[in-house]
Amino acid sequence: MAKMIVALGGDGIGPEVVDAAIQVLESMGLDLEIQKPLCGEAAIKKFGTPFPKEAIDLTNESDAILFGATEQASVIILAYLRWGLDTYANLRPIKYYEGVPTPIRDPEGIDFVIVRENSEGLYPGREGDLSLLAEKLPDYRDRLGKSFADYGAGKFAIRVFTNKGCQRIAKFACEKARERKAKGFPGKVTCVTKSNVLRESCGLFQKTCEEVIKNYPELKYEHFYVDDMARRIIRFPKDMDVIVTSNMFGDILSDLAAELMGGLGMAPSACIGDKYAYFEPVHGSAPDIAGKGIANPTASILSSVLMLEYLGMKGKAEELENAVKAVYREGKVLTPDMGGKAKTIDFTRAVIEKLK
Ligand code: NAI
Ligand code: MG
Repeated sequence: MAKMIVALGGDGIGPEVVDAAIQVLESMGLDLEIQKPLCGEAAIKKFGTPFPKEAIDLTNESDAILFGATEQASVIILAYLRWGLDTYANLRPIKYYEGVPTPIRDPEGIDFVIVRENSEGLYPGREGDLSLLAEKLPDYRDRLGKSFADYGAGKFAIRVFTNKGCQRIAKFACEKARERKAKGFPGKVTCVTKSNVLRESCGLFQKTCEEVIKNYPELKYEHFYVDDMARRIIRFPKDMDVIVTSNMFGDILSDLAAELMGGLGMAPSACIGDKYAYFEPVHGSAPDIAGKGIANPTASILSSVLMLEYLGMKGKAEELENAVKAVYREGKVLTPDMGGKAKTIDFTRAVIEKLK
């Protein structure tokens, strides 16, 4: 039976890059039924809501979701995909493709993944006035011995780490490392926290990773603080295999690491839960280039490669990845972010040509 895919472009360049990925997938003649309900800015204009019922129903029935990006007005789409569908593991592969310009001197062979916890930490924002904490928690004292009232007027943000959240992401990372080890990668999990300062929350994350990894004696394990890790990703990118970290650190480190592979135009991601999965580029809606037809659709196309893998179509996923590789190896059709003049549609056609 055909797998049902829902394409939710969202805002800004979201619909442009998702359309490109759909065109490529459709050219492959796969057993996919791709639904394209209106959502985001276009749905606000027509229905007064960014995520109409039809789109929600199709999302709930889907085998996988291809997502673009949203801005503030449509953020409920993203909230639904992440928290409504509990897609807690955000897998962000960082893989260098020959021919892609990057600021790194010797990028050949860079190939690792960031596993970002996608459901807790500082997201979704839990914020408010400090006066609320002062009123509700009058006896609380921080490490300096100060109460919330001592700080005067201001705002707070709360970071939540649960036992369950830490356990499931640690397990996901270990399983990923095991799977990669079988393909010849080192089989190493690098846990990234700031547990020297955030001893309770990051401490739980680190401790849980150290517990879970014991079930995987064939894997190596290391831990670094996030500030040190930012540097290591640039200095030693080829030492990385599977990096596991909390939500905001993963968000920031993955934009940084995307530059190793040529920038945000290249970096794909998969958000995987127990029942649902959605696939989106690491980048956002890129309002500075939206509507110009010049967005690089590679990140979205490579996200659909991850989707095909998830759907069990490994051979087709490889075919599509090889087509993207071939376009970059030739280096003739490059979008402006890669130093070229090609439009989104030109790049998309070049990939489709390679698939023939
Ligand atoms: P961004 O990722 O949209 O853009 C950052 C820079 O990268 C911009 O200069 C942009 O032109 C460039 N860029 C991004 N994707 C590109 C592509 N495919 N081809 C060529 N250039 C590309 O991040 P920014 O500017 O911080 O955020 C813009 C909006 O996107 C905000 O409203 C933000 O909240 C939202 N956002 C949404 C995300 C999501 O829906 N998952 C993720 C990140 C940001
Ligand atoms: Mg981000």
